[in-house]
Formats: sequence, structure tokens, C-alpha cells
Amino acid sequence: MRAIQAPFPHTRLRRTRQNANIRDLVAENTLTAADLIWPVFVRDGDGVEEPVTSMPGVVRRSVDKVVEAAREARDLGIPAICLFPYTDASKRTADCAEAWNPDNLSNRATRAIKAAVPDIAIMTDVALDPYSDTGHDGFVVGDEIVNDATVEALIKQGLSQAEAGVDIIGPSDMMDGRIGALRSALESAGHQNVLLLSYAAKYASAFYGPFRDAVGASGALKGDKKTYQMNPANSDEALRCVERDLSEGADMVMVKPGMPYLDICRRVKDAFGAPTYAYQVSGEYAMIQAAAGNGWIDGEKAMLESLMCFKRAGCDGILTYFAPEVARILR
Ligand code: PBG
Repeated sequence: MRAIQAPFPHTRLRRTRQNANIRDLVAENTLTAADLIWPVFVRDGDGVEEPVTSMPGVVRRSVDKVVEAAREARDLGIPAICLFPYTDASKRTADCAEAWNPDNLSNRATRAIKAAVPDIAIMTDVALDPYSDTGHDGFVVGDEIVNDATVEALIKQGLSQAEAGVDIIGPSDMMDGRIGALRSALESAGHQNVLLLSYAAKYASAFYGPFRDAVGASGALKGDKKTYQMNPANSDEALRCVERDLSEGADMVMVKPGMPYLDICRRVKDAFGAPTYAYQVSGEYAMIQAAAGNGWIDGEKAMLESLMCFKRAGCDGILTYFAPEVARILR
């Protein structure tokens, strides 16, 4: 598409930027609270809110506090909350059995939120890293993160989350074949309405550092995740991943990290037209907060601009730690 325009001075592109009313009228994209998914960290205890050092403003909450957070999010018009457990070191084992324990932190938080705040959507994470003594998303045999045995475990984990009542399952593990396997298992178990939001194009990224700190996985992680997460050099491969996951039954797809990967968001949206999300990850959040905390940028403006750019890049929504702050400003 090419806009038709007269030569200067008949066309003056500054006419449509001259004041806020006109700018609003010609704005091509909007950001609202309804575009946001809020990731929250869950920990043991009661009445606990424990700051995450590398993510100023973010806390790990005990289940009762997560319920309060869900209520706050619902009241702010945020449609979904995404749970990430901080699992006690004693429950991180080689067999990762805590991942499908019906009473693990994630499942307890899901049931508590569903009971108290039934009208917010709950998303959960499928991957073994919060439960593994290696910090990897899959089982480790020798030097290898093994695919097929991991997928078997992910099915058990996903089913236990569906049983607890989640609305959206987010497989973040990047094993091959897990979307099809999870979809079949959910259908067979009568969970045909549970959505799969696949972390389809997830890159092996340095921007996850603060998250691994938040869930207590940074100390444990041996090596890197490059044999399953994508190479930041690749873009065509992201389309292959998304196509594969959609063809296996994903309802929605994600690109992760966010801001350095806006080109991938645009390509994915243009190629498939599927519901497309970006994860503004922990390192992106930490950079904005750190610069703002030092007075080097206006944190509020940078936050809003960064999120609007995801909409412009074709995303239908964004997972962001800024969600409640943004929703309060947009209200
Ligand atoms: C792991 C997982 C990660 C994130 C979400 N799920 C980290 C990783 O892959 O090591 C990162 C989120 C963030 O950085 O905010 N399954």
C-alpha cells in the first residue's frame, strides 16, 4: 500500500501532528489495559512480599498475596495473570516430580485465584526449570537436554495445571513436539477449552538474567540453553517454529524476548495472522527501571513507548511486569 500525496506545500505532513486532538485522530495503534498479561512470581508462606533485587518494583508473593494481586489486576482491566513459581531448593530434583504435584505452588495459586477472583484468566508456565536441580527446561542425560522424555513430563505438568483450573497454558520449554502432545492430552482428558499460548519463537537470550534470579534458577543453571532455545541470528527459523506450533494446535503464539525482536513479531503477524504476543522480559524491564532509577530516562514515558511499539509491530498483547503500573496510568 502506498499513500497518495500531493507535492509540498499541498502536502505538509506536520499538519497531522499539530496538536493532541489531531494526533489522536490519526493514531494508527492504541495501548489499553486489555492488551496486557501480568507475570507474577509465587513463593511459599503467608502474607509475604519479597523484593526481587534485579527487578526493582517486582516482588515474589505468597499465595494469599497473589490472590490480592489478581483482584487488583482484574479491577484495573487486565485480562490475564501469568504465574511463575519460586520453588524451594528442597523440591528441585532430577525427576522434577514437583512439576506435576497437584499441590505445588502454581496449582495452589491457581485454585486460590479461581475461588476468589473467578473473572480473571490464569496463564501458567510449562517447563521443568523451576523444578529441576540443573536449571534446565528439560531432563538432562549426560550432556544432553533430552527431548522426548521431557515432553512426557511436560504433558503431566500441563494436565495438572488444567486440572487446577488454568485458562491458558504457556509452554516455554522449546522442546520439539510438545504442542501437539499437550493438545492431544488435553483433548483426551476433557480439557478442550484450555488454550495453548506457545512460546513459539523463544530465543537463547541474555535478557532472561533477572528472571532466573527471581525464580531461583540462576545459581543452578549449568551451561546455556542454546540447544533448545533459538539463535538470535535467525528469523526464517522463527516462522518455521510458529508454523509448526500452529499446525500442532497452538491457539496463540509468542515471540520472546520483546523489544530486540520486533522484526520477528511483525513477520509472524504478517505471515500467519494468528493471535501474537510478545514477552517484554525481565532484562528489558530491568534496563528501563535501572535507567529511570538513575534519572537517565523518564521511566513512565519509556515504559508506555516500549509497550506501544509492540502494538505497532503487530502484537495483539504483551506480557509485561509493568502491567499494573501501565493500567493505572491508562485508566
Ligand atoms: C523458563 C522461562 C524463562 C522465562 C520465562 N520462562 C527463562 C529461561 O528460559 O531461562 C524468562 C522470562 C523473563 O526473563 O522475564 N522456562
